[in-house]
Order: sequence, then structure tokens, then C-alpha cells
Amino acid sequence: MSKEKTYTDCADNMNPLPIVQMDEESFARLSSFITQNYGIKLPIAKKSMLESRLNKKVKSLGMRSYKEFLDFIFTDKGRQTELYQVIDLITTNKTDFFREPAHFQYLTLNFLPQYQLIHKRNNIKIWSAGCSTGEEPYTLVMVLEEYKRRHPELTYTLMASDISVRVIQAAYQGIYDIEKIHRIPIELQRNYFLRSRNNPHIVRIKPIYRKKISYKRINLMDHQYGLGKGDYDIIFCRNVLIYFNRNKQEEVIGKFCHCLRPGGLLLLGHSESIMDMQLPLTQLRPTVYQRV
Ligand SMILES: C[S@@+](CC[C@H](N)C(=O)[O-])C[C@H]1O[C@@H](n2cnc3c(N)ncnc32)[C@H](O)[C@@H]1O
Repeated sequence: MSKEKTYTDCADNMNPLPIVQMDEESFARLSSFITQNYGIKLPIAKKSMLESRLNKKVKSLGMRSYKEFLDFIFTDKGRQTELYQVIDLITTNKTDFFREPAHFQYLTLNFLPQYQLIHKRNNIKIWSAGCSTGEEPYTLVMVLEEYKRRHPELTYTLMASDISVRVIQAAYQGIYDIEKIHRIPIELQRNYFLRSRNNPHIVRIKPIYRKKISYKRINLMDHQYGLGKGDYDIIFCRNVLIYFNRNKQEEVIGKFCHCLRPGGLLLLGHSESIMDMQLPLTQLRPTVYQRV
């Protein structure tokens, strides 16, 4: 190969394609599609956030405007090939192990002992809805396994769901940066995580505990979730509905009530509430509700 061939035009790197601006009509079209289909509200203030998250995708498809991009996304081919990735980019997946820890304490110190006693249930089904990259369901595995040491009669099944395929895949892998587990008590770190041999900054949930969770892609906006009436004893849906408007929140929580057994528990995020909603739930604590 001649020396010249190992060089490329300076313009290739020095002048990357300019940022594609999202025009107002495209923003309105995209935001109403997202709100209608996935519940997530996108006021105009989110336009620059959307632009920055989607720009790389638009450019990688060789498109020069959002109109062109959306025209493609809404074709059958675009829906099949790109829409999942657009959802991955639009959703906010911030999460943590033992996030809002009072919920886990309440579950094992108050709720479960009473529920087992009163409802005579030793085999409980839990759903982590909007599980993101898995920190919430794996926290549940840790607290339930610890509870089982004191209550060996308890068995549980745990289902975790999300709309984003990317985060479900990450949750299934159960691989985390070591910094993510620093605040977990050392005893639990030892019991539930493995250190990578190749990279000292990486840990992974032990296989035996990864297998405790089954995953499903569920859009909470779907009419039905393919789950039966009263199938679940406990539903965690925390920091998901905050992105939905009030009507959609009420609709989704209504569907959770259908899936919960009488006496079952619903846990929402710290800034979510059911105030003024007509739902068969009683409040036990802030953000903790029981199916009546
Ligand atoms: C901020 S994370 C919350 C994670 C975890 N529950 C917690 O509290 O740490 C919100 C998650 O909700 C998911 N989500 C957003 N809209 C959804 C929908 N329509 N159906 C299902 N999941 C959705 C997002 O993909 C994201 O992973």
C-alpha cells in the first residue's frame, strides 16, 4: 500500500457532520408519539435533551433532518430496526442498589412477617416494574435471601420488566462497576457478588442469584400485561410513573391493582403518590400502599 493510502482527507475528522437541529414540528410529532405509546411526557423544555440523545443516531443513519429521521422511524422497517433503540435513548434509567432503603426495611421487618401470618402465604410473587439495569431486583434478591435465613419456609419468584431492551440485557448480565456496590454492607458484597479476574473495577452478581430473576419486556402503557388477576403479592414500581402524566399514572396503577392479590403491596418512588386517585389501595406509609 502506498504511504498516501494510510492517510485520509483532513475534512473527514476535522469537520464532523454538524449537529442536526430538531424543528418544532418534528419535536411535536415525536413527543406526542412517545407520550401516547410509552406514557413518557416530553414538554418543550426537553427538546434539547432529546436532540442531544438522538443526534448520534440521526447522523449514523446518514440523515440530515429530524423530519427525514421520523419519516423513516414511522415506516414498518424503521419500527422494526430503529424504534427499540430510540426508546433506549429516550428513557431515563438512573437507579441504584438499595435506592430508597426504607422500602426494603419495611418489606422484611414489617410487611412480610405479617403477610405470611395473616394471609398464610409462604410462596410470594414479586414484580419489579421499570427495573432498569437490575439494581432494584437484585437488591430484592439480597434482602429476600437474608430474610429466608430467618424464615426458611418462605419461597419467592421475582419478575423484572422494563420497556428498554438495552437495560433488560444489562440487568440479565448483572455486571456492575465496583463503585456501584460501595455502599452495600460488606457482608452482602461478599455473599452476592464476584470480582472480575481481568478487571479490578468490575463485579458481577453470582450466577445462583442471577437465576432468581426472570425478565420480560413490558410496556406499562399496554392495555394488558399478560398477567393474571391477583397474580402478584408485591409490586415495586419506583421512579417510573414520575415521567407520566396524572391520567396515565392512574391507569397504570389501576392495572397494578388488578395484578395484586388482596392484602398485596405496591411501592412507588419517593415523589410519586396516588393522592386524589380512585383506586382500591390504602396507604400504609408514604409511597407504600396495600391492595384492599
Ligand atoms: C429511573 S428508572 C427507575 C429504576 C428503578 N425502578 C429505581 O427506582 O431505581 C425508570 C425506568 O422506567 C422505564 N420505563 C419508562 N417508561 C416505561 C414504560 N412505558 N413501560 C415500562 N418501563 C418504562 C425506563 O426504561 C427506566 O428503566
